[in-house]
Amino acid sequence: MFDSHHAERFRSIKTPFFYYSLNLLERTLEEVSKHGISKGYHVHYAIKANNNDRILERVKAAGLGIDCVSGKEIEKALSAGFTPEQIAFAGVGKTDEEIQYGLDSDIFSFNCESIQEIEVLNEIAENAGKVANVSVRLNPNVEAKTHKYITTGLNENKFGVNPEKLTILFEKLPALNAINLTGIHFHIGSQITELQPFIDLAKKVNAIQDFFEDHDIQLNHVNVGGGYGINYEQPDGEPIPDFEAFFNVFDKHLKIRDGQQVHFELGRSIVGQCGSLISKVLFIKEGITTNFAVLDAGMTELIRPALYQAAHSVDVLTSSMPEKKYDVVGPICESSDTFRTGIDLPEIKRGDLVAIRSAGAYGQVMSSDFNLRERAKTVYSDEI
Ligand code: LLP
Repeated sequence: MFDSHHAERFRSIKTPFFYYSLNLLERTLEEVSKHGISKGYHVHYAIKANNNDRILERVKAAGLGIDCVSGKEIEKALSAGFTPEQIAFAGVGKTDEEIQYGLDSDIFSFNCESIQEIEVLNEIAENAGKVANVSVRLNPNVEAKTHKYITTGLNENKFGVNPEKLTILFEKLPALNAINLTGIHFHIGSQITELQPFIDLAKKVNAIQDFFEDHDIQLNHVNVGGGYGINYEQPDGEPIPDFEAFFNVFDKHLKIRDGQQVHFELGRSIVGQCGSLISKVLFIKEGITTNFAVLDAGMTELIRPALYQAAHSVDVLTSSMPEKKYDVVGPICESSDTFRTGIDLPEIKRGDLVAIRSAGAYGQVMSSDFNLRERAKTVYSDEI
């Protein structure tokens, strides 16, 4: 992704900063469009992955909707020009104020995660003289084969309603006058790189749909969530996930009823590879078993390595010397503030620039000002 032109231009920009390739974002969106949207699938972009204005602008132009998990995300989506009918609102702990805001905004769907939430939503909607469209999030107990912190569809996870509790919901529904049960929602986890978990999900969805029909409930839509992963090891080898293979799973395994819509909520697979965290090397410290390259970026900018043991690829942009072994670390007073350990990189000197790759999703949005650090700036490819 990077050449000497980038290195030269980056020299004059204060580090660390997030750099986004709008070209790669465009190409990624074209693939989503070609293999998903053009087949009639409704794809919501999970705004939690990255909410930068210029990214949202492109996502909107490509015809995607938005998946939100807070009132502020709904506000952001609306101000970016998405229509209320394009907005799904998930989240295991929506506040009364957020529910009210969603109702006032007439959003497409509340993805509800518990029976109590549906009852509270009913009450708030009734008081507001509204009817809320609800998609009940079900926990399908499907193994996502990803890191345990980003697995969401197992019985032990806090997300969704256990399908065994559905009969309780069915009994309550007739009295819930302000609820319009329009769909079912699933999301089994994130950074799922194998297709099998999605096949398993599709089959569970089919069985659950049968169960709804047995109870004379027809659903207007099925939302299978997001979770498709990216290649962190080889961001240049696989800059765009294989969306054809992903959507084919659902073409093949999901049994859609006549007139029924299928929705997706993709975050990382859309924006992950277009972003990099650009940082300057502050110091080189020779250790006993390795050399430490101390960067001016740390876990405050990209917490994924510290939180999920994620290994982001590191490019040295300003050296082509023979390789040496390094631990690439940040400046924060935490031992977990380590991007990589024991990797071979071209020899690094103080002042060299590095790119920490695949940082477009869950990078900038999860950053903090711990240690009273300044927030990293945003730079787009057409600005340099
Ligand atoms: N839908 C729901 C209900 C979700 O909870 C999520 C992500 C998505 C869609 C989008 O998932 P994606 O397509 O991006 O995998 N911070 C973690 C990831 C947390 C994902 C949370 N939910 C990380 O950096 O790996």
